[in-house]
Amino acid sequence: ATILVLHGPNLNLLGTREPEIYGSTTLADINQHLTVLSKAEGHHLQALQSNAEYELIDRIHDARQEGVNFIIINPAAFTHTSVALRDALTGVDIPFIEVHLSNVHAREAFRQHSYFSDIAQGVICGLGAQGYELALRSAFNFLDTNN
Ligand code: DQA
Repeated sequence: ATILVLHGPNLNLLGTREPEIYGSTTLADINQHLTVLSKAEGHHLQALQSNAEYELIDRIHDARQEGVNFIIINPAAFTHTSVALRDALTGVDIPFIEVHLSNVHAREAFRQHSYFSDIAQGVICGLGAQGYELALRSAFNFLDTNN
């Protein structure tokens, strides 16, 4: 199956961006690790990071045309602002898991509302880069039992 990993704004800075909050692993490291794990399970992984809301939305639209089976998304700051990105995910009806590196519930009040959590299959936050791997393993499990 095909799994799409989407990374929202500023996540291109991972590794150097507030490492005490987001860790020292780079986005390239995360994507590389997820690609290797996916291959080992016979799945295909695609990844996109964008600082532009419309690029993430367009990628989600294309995902339906391409037959993407599962999405893992860290919407980053768009988590707390983007009805448009939420509507894109609802519109394509592809199951997804929401991931955050930091524990958003232990941070500023404005980070405690997500436009995605109520429509996500699950939400992982506060476990750093490992959260992506856990989401991916859950996706494998879902794909094995539902396809
Ligand atoms: C984040 C949490 C968001 O509140 C923040 O805007 C981010 C990253 C996380 O992974 O912890 O950019 O999604």
